[in-house]
Amino acid sequence: MLNLDLAKLAPYVTQDQLNAMADELAAAHNKLYDPSAPGSDFTGWVRLPEAYDKEEFARIQKAAAKIREDSDVLVVIGIGGSYLGARAALEVFPSDGPEICFVGCSLSPNETKQVMDKVQGKRWSINVISKSGGTTEPAIAFRLFRQLLEQQYGAEANSRIYATTDKARGALKSLADHNGWESFVIPDEVGGRYSVLTAVGLLPIAVGGTDISQLMAGAADAMNRYDQRSMDNPVWQYVAARNLLYRQGKKVEIFCNYEPSYSFVGEWLKQLFGESEGKDGKGIFPASAQFTTDLHSLGQYIQDGERMLMETVLYVDDTGCDLEVPYSDDNGDNLNYLTGKPLSFVREMAFQGTLAAHHDGGVPAMVLRMPHMDAHTLGELFYFFELSCGVSGHVLQVNPFNQPGVEAYKKNMFALLGRP
Ligand code: PA5
Repeated sequence: MLNLDLAKLAPYVTQDQLNAMADELAAAHNKLYDPSAPGSDFTGWVRLPEAYDKEEFARIQKAAAKIREDSDVLVVIGIGGSYLGARAALEVFPSDGPEICFVGCSLSPNETKQVMDKVQGKRWSINVISKSGGTTEPAIAFRLFRQLLEQQYGAEANSRIYATTDKARGALKSLADHNGWESFVIPDEVGGRYSVLTAVGLLPIAVGGTDISQLMAGAADAMNRYDQRSMDNPVWQYVAARNLLYRQGKKVEIFCNYEPSYSFVGEWLKQLFGESEGKDGKGIFPASAQFTTDLHSLGQYIQDGERMLMETVLYVDDTGCDLEVPYSDDNGDNLNYLTGKPLSFVREMAFQGTLAAHHDGGVPAMVLRMPHMDAHTLGELFYFFELSCGVSGHVLQVNPFNQPGVEAYKKNMFALLGRP
């Protein structure tokens, strides 16, 4: 079970101030169930951990088993919400089956070519993911990789393409129907950045060997636990705290973690909060940092730079592995005082020391501790932040489920490309 520790909020935010947010929190939380609230068409993720399509879930597991059996590489094509959740989970739990490569999440010829070279001579499959079915980056990558697959496999290529897209609309859906590709649905009422617990995330994660039933069970536990309508709810506490800090001028939230494999959880969080809250001239800017390495770079700014920062630390207690600092006869590095100490203990002391230093330097922090690094806990974490983000967007009085701002660059790019 996740544990939210707000001890390092004082004196910036007091318990009384948190309690005084209760009515705002109740109203914001209710909006997720109110058909007249902004974005109400996109709240399918709220009950998803229990209401998901069980028949499709079984098909996802079956397709994953087939890919694990007949492929050395799975090329996953997608961007934004059709990419980051799966990537985040697969960084935390690397594949123990096929190598999983992500493309279509940039326009880099180098990155794309490297994966094209990698699949040469291998047994491989494609999972193309796009809700709209027409996003430029993944569409170009898919054209390249589909041609490669067809060159290698001929007609058999069609049984190696898995399309995750809208149930009825879009170019990808038409192509999938026309060619008989196995298809999975991104529900209408689930937006990209809330879609990690649909086939968007589940198929690649399952191919990697992670138990997606456990991931869903963790999310379902979180859904039931965090539905509580009181300030005892950690989601309410977190949302109240970050909004109170924002109102005090803490405009940037740094999602920090101490496990490098969680760096893409940071990327997922940046999209979730950035696209949900950054609109109408408002919103906390989401950033991420990887400790301890970034303490040797960003650490200076965090400690001493402009005081507009708050931190949300994701800390895993038991990562499932540990090492001890060995004894050295010559003690040339003066580290014998740590002899026999687990590396996790040194990390914990670095974490405690950093938290205190940043707090003293004017950076209030919220700490979300995860007991274990397992699928159940990751499911809880995904849901904790999805719910926090939905509620927080309503506290901020924006529509947390649209993203009108992402169209501006596309409009310019298409004009420059001469799109008919
Ligand atoms: O959250 C979002 O809606 C976006 O990040 C999309 O997921 C992203 O643009 C990819 O869109 P699509 O799945 O339609 O290709």
